[in-house]
Amino acid sequence: MAAALVAEKPEHADTIEGVLDRAFGPGRLAKTSERVRERGAVAEPSLSRVALSDAGEVVGVCRIWSIEAGVAAFFLGPLAVDPSARNAGVGAELVRACVAACRASGGAAIIAVGAASFFAPLGFSVAPAGRVFLPGPVDPTRLLWVELRPGALDAVRGEVRAPK
Ligand SMILES: CC(C)(COP(=O)(O)OP(=O)(O)OC[C@H]1O[C@@H](n2cnc3c(N)ncnc32)[C@H](O)[C@@H]1OP(=O)(O)O)[C@@H](O)C(=O)NCCC(=O)NCCS
Repeated sequence: MAAALVAEKPEHADTIEGVLDRAFGPGRLAKTSERVRERGAVAEPSLSRVALSDAGEVVGVCRIWSIEAGVAAFFLGPLAVDPSARNAGVGAELVRACVAACRASGGAAIIAVGAASFFAPLGFSVAPAGRVFLPGPVDPTRLLWVELRPGALDAVRGEVRAPK
């Protein structure tokens, strides 16, 4: 399925909500990642990406947030692709495009919560135990990060919080 990736725009907001509801169901706002966003992470629509179908409908989304974790960094999520568009590489392309945008913006690192099997081919690895904390419980095998410039991960540590 062909999908064009573009930066998130205000007019995508309603259809993004539909994609997220279908992907995660009613429990999605209970996730620990949501606490990060609630506690002042700053939305970065210009670094976030949506996937558009040929008809121009949003069929996928990957959002990026500015955060602080010892140093200015980014938080990735939610990532979701509509069931109708899955297994065609859209999810991976969304993450690749967000990583490239974050790297071009001069950021240090991206932190995400997700399946290492999905994110490892995209450059992410499991953060060492005890290095970074989210405001709530997270399976440590799902707490991932990717370095955006050489050596930048050395400074990433502590609680993920709102940027200064
Ligand atoms: C995860 C998701 C975004 C992948 O989107 P997609 O467009 O189908 O992804 P791609 O086509 O790029 O990649 C598909 C691969 O991801 C794998 N995958 C899908 N969901 C996965 C998951 N939850 N954990 C691990 N791997 C997963 C598929 O098995 C497939 O693997 P393969 O290529 O070896 O066959 C999509 O399945 C989705 O929206 N799921 C529900 C929401 C969710 O779990 N989001 C991720 C939170 S980290």
